[in-house]
Amino acid sequence: MEEYKIPKHVSIIMDGNGRWATRRGLKRSEGHLAGSKTLEKLAIHAIDKGVEVLSVYAFSTDNFKREQAEVDYLMNLFIKMFSTKFATLKKKGIKVVFSGRKENLRDDVLKAMNKIVNETKDNTRGILNVCLNYGGQEEIVDAVKKIVSEGVDPDTIDKNTMYHYLYNDLPPIDLLIRTSGECRVSNYMIYQMAYSEFYFTDCLFPDFLEDEFDKAIDAYNGRDIRLGGNSEKEE
Ligand code: IPE
Ligand code: IPE
Ligand code: MG
Repeated sequence: MEEYKIPKHVSIIMDGNGRWATRRGLKRSEGHLAGSKTLEKLAIHAIDKGVEVLSVYAFSTDNFKREQAEVDYLMNLFIKMFSTKFATLKKKGIKVVFSGRKENLRDDVLKAMNKIVNETKDNTRGILNVCLNYGGQEEIVDAVKKIVSEGVDPDTIDKNTMYHYLYNDLPPIDLLIRTSGECRVSNYMIYQMAYSEFYFTDCLFPDFLEDEFDKAIDAYNGRDIRLGGNSEKEE
């Protein structure tokens, strides 16, 4: 029997918080709050399962187009999460890092982000990469700017060294999950998902709990990953 594989880098587009709330006659903010509780559980579960890096899309650069009240609610929720809820992640030995642009983020949000990064920087059990004020095309643009401003010799750049110039030097994504039924990537980690397996589920993010995550890992195990080569599953 083939060995059960745990993907090294799993990435989640945490979508559907708003619909989860409105379907229950609640305010969208209630959906974000429920989603934040799911994220905390999932991060612990994923790392306990042996996932090395869990990336999550928490807020895109384009999410600033939403109503100010929703943006404010989300920013305040992030502060609360990083300064209180993430204490469990800290205890579990999980290192928290962020990907995204600092511009346009409030000082109190940046302060809470820096604090959790510093408090968890020596943790080694796994990494939670929170993509906040993040855009995949923006990340590539920012990497190019860094390369140019550092005067890097073009001959030394290849597709692997590019990772070094992205917001965090993380491995490529093995499994990309998007909840809520939308089948698009919405400007998420486009460089890192070149060979990712995609898992789309109708489940709304607040309901995407441990058993749903396990289903995604099961689906990943059923995939025929070729990376451009021949099938390993062919008889
Ligand atoms: C995802 O849920 C969370 C963020 C984008 C911050 P949405 O808020 O996009 O929920 P829907 O898609 O409106 O249901
Ligand atoms: C992507 O979801 C961003 C996050 C999950 C944070 P959106 O809900 O913003 O994406 P679109 O608008 O459906 O493409
Ligand atoms: Mg959405």
